Amino acid sequence: MPRIELTDLPSRSTTHGTDGWSALLDDSPFDKPEVWFEDKPEVSGDLTDVYRGMFNDLAVAVKITRDVGDTDLVEHEASVLAELYPEGTNNEKFYRYLPRLIASTRWEGRRVNILPWFEGFISLEDIRRAYPEGIDFRDMVWMFKRLLVGIGFAHTQDIVHGAILPSHVMVHPLDHGAKIIDWSYAIQHASHKNTYIRAMSRPFQAFYASEILDRRPPTPATDIAMAARIAIALVGGDLETGNLPGSVPTGVQLFLQDCILEDPNRRPQNAWDLHESFDKLLLSIVGKPTYRPFRMP
Ligand SMILES: Nc1ncnc2c1ncn2[C@@H]1O[C@H](COP(=O)(O)OP(=O)(O)OP(=O)(O)O)[C@@H](O)[C@H]1O
Ligand SMILES: [Mg+2]
Repeated sequence: MPRIELTDLPSRSTTHGTDGWSALLDDSPFDKPEVWFEDKPEVSGDLTDVYRGMFNDLAVAVKITRDVGDTDLVEHEASVLAELYPEGTNNEKFYRYLPRLIASTRWEGRRVNILPWFEGFISLEDIRRAYPEGIDFRDMVWMFKRLLVGIGFAHTQDIVHGAILPSHVMVHPLDHGAKIIDWSYAIQHASHKNTYIRAMSRPFQAFYASEILDRRPPTPATDIAMAARIAIALVGGDLETGNLPGSVPTGVQLFLQDCILEDPNRRPQNAWDLHESFDKLLLSIVGKPTYRPFRMP
């Protein structure tokens, strides 16, 4: 089994988180804490291989660049995650939607990010593949709502994710948790920068908001549009036309279509406000939500 020595972790004395690696460091029998990982990757992403590993008794994801040329993207993800989830913070309300960066290091000349392993979570791409005809809109509803809460938090930190794609959202089918992953393309200090998202995942081109394709600056409305595109695709809707199947209540159809308008200024701008108005809409058309475990076929 390959092993990574974590030599560049901050010192123990400066860490005081309770649920992160600082507690694990204190328990570590090693002078230099180490992570062990499987020989074969569990998943190959766009630019990295993601391995299952262990850091003491914590299951971790070891994300390693395949090509040294992509080092900067993985480094950038580490910088974004460190800003989103600074050491010592423990605000479960929002951080449960984000990966916590355990360490960012090097291994055999390649850049590595170490994150908690999301046991029992599946990506929305897995769900889309399993249900090409679409899932029940009531299952999509909780997935979309979690996504809005998570991106809304990033937006309060002036960060736009920029790659809200089905492969970058993981959900727990039973407890309805969600995680927004792959922050490699995110833009920090988004409202102060006149910049564009530099890389795109070709297989998911249909999910991108027009401003990303046209290399215009992204805003929170960019992430909102991409989240809505995922919601539309999940229920079997058409991303070209924005048409949704008749099984989705008209109010929900119109709500989602409003989020994917071509002009970003005409879309809803605030993910948390949108979450609130979505709840109100659902209450009026489908009533109080009831728990539905999600099942894969
Ligand atoms: N923490 C995690 N726990 C479990 N599975 C994960 C985790 N992080 C990533 N994965 C799996 O690996 C896949 C790829 O992850 P990710 O998108 O972060 O890598 P990538 O596309 O190679 O990233 P990048 O664009 O930075 O190169 C995800 O779709 C998911 O299935
Ligand atoms: Mg990715």
